[in-house]
Amino acid sequence: MYKYMIGHGRGFVRAVELFCGAGGMSRGLVDAGFEVVRAYDAWPIAVETYRRNIGPHVVEADLNNLLSIVSQISTLAPDIVCGGPPCQDYSLAGRRQEGQNASMTIAFAIVVTTVRPQWFLMENVVQAQKSQAWAEARAMLKRAGYGLSESKINAAYYGVPQSRRRLFVIGRLGEKDGFLQSAIAAKASAAPMSLRQFFGSAVPNTVFFPATSDARRSFYSADESAPTIPERPIRPLPEGHRYHPADVALLENGYVYSRPVRGGRGVRSIDEPIATITRTSWERPTPRYLGAPHHLDPVVATDTAVLTVDQIARIQGFPADWAWGDIAKRDILQMIANAVPAPVARSLGEVILERHRGQSGPAIEGHFVDWLVRGGRNRATAHNVKANVGRARRLLGGRTFADAGHELLALETASGFDALPKNTRSDLRRALAVLAEFEASKLRKPRRPRRSAALRPLEPESAEALKQAA
Ligand SMILES: C[S@@+](CC[C@H](N)C(=O)[O-])C[C@H]1O[C@@H](n2cnc3c(N)ncnc32)[C@H](O)[C@@H]1O
Repeated sequence: MYKYMIGHGRGFVRAVELFCGAGGMSRGLVDAGFEVVRAYDAWPIAVETYRRNIGPHVVEADLNNLLSIVSQISTLAPDIVCGGPPCQDYSLAGRRQEGQNASMTIAFAIVVTTVRPQWFLMENVVQAQKSQAWAEARAMLKRAGYGLSESKINAAYYGVPQSRRRLFVIGRLGEKDGFLQSAIAAKASAAPMSLRQFFGSAVPNTVFFPATSDARRSFYSADESAPTIPERPIRPLPEGHRYHPADVALLENGYVYSRPVRGGRGVRSIDEPIATITRTSWERPTPRYLGAPHHLDPVVATDTAVLTVDQIARIQGFPADWAWGDIAKRDILQMIANAVPAPVARSLGEVILERHRGQSGPAIEGHFVDWLVRGGRNRATAHNVKANVGRARRLLGGRTFADAGHELLALETASGFDALPKNTRSDLRRALAVLAEFEASKLRKPRRPRRSAALRPLEPESAEALKQAA
């Protein structure tokens, strides 16, 4: 029997992470409910930071030594292998030439295809999707039987106040490509998170009264009386309540600067997310930038708040109590810039766990009901077929199957299917077969653009594209 037909996962899902860095991705996966049983990285400083903050299961190892690593990981029998292979070779700031680091993407695929976990999760810069290394890695993963969901995600829609676009590829044995796309899109927030939302909530129950002079503050606890009503005394703050003075300074200032990549805007309002965090996000504007500032900068770059390393780490999803230890600032910033923001990893981890446990199913992409009606069914029957697809997929634990024969076999053996009346069983089989015809028809006929495009509901890809553009 195929591994992916055994049934829904229960309890903890065991994860192994490659290229774990300081532990941004691991932290998010643990928050989502994974048990990370082993993590690997070659950089001693990152390994020590990971050990201090996440746990002792981290191992310092060069993942070029695949022979020993693969056998270790196989013994651990993970349900999922995760990782963000190093990306300088692809990134905008990098050399744009594929080299040693790009081959780590292939090393990731070799580990996955040899260990054959049910799932994998890979993160990289968006440019990696067009690379030769990913083309090779992708072909290996497809040959090994993985269905792939490839999503370009903007972190600002997944819990951090930062416009950071990254490629996330999630694979699962036996699935159809795109199997998780709708669930990932559904997890996105309606609007990007702004710095004000993020840092405002770091000062709990805060009330904002704009200061009328430099000597006064603008943020007050909800337990204090309003500063504009002087006769009422200000009550003491609740015990344990702590303002982050730097956050208050940032909120009061209202603007931040971060060095733009490729001539972008350097100054952002706190009502927006900040630009992608890099190793230089703490730097003040250079004379060169000040000599030719971006024409859309809302204020002069030197008038913006100065971000602390602690704030940069929090914007990147590290918790406020994260212990960096006594190490060089440049190493801390490198680990921060490298990381997958934990809230992003958490969101994707939740999407994976919900599907793994059969608690979510894929949306049917496209106009299935209209297609059925065009094929001669009346609308009520067409809706019935669609409902039966939903019912069959629930019995299948939300799974899709690249192979129609496997799908039918899995349905026949799904718990509860046998107990259904004979007619219902045939309806469910038929519904999946009709859906397969619909999906095949979409592949045969590339969709022609229609004039009413603006009126159609957004599909996950286009919804994401709009968010990226926002
Ligand atoms: C993009 S970072 C990963 C960050 C991590 N996902 C996180 O969320 O914090 C890539 C990591 O790969 C590690 N690395 C690079 N080459 C390696 C190799 N040959 N073997 C093991 N780790 C390597 C680097 O030290 C770096 O920490």
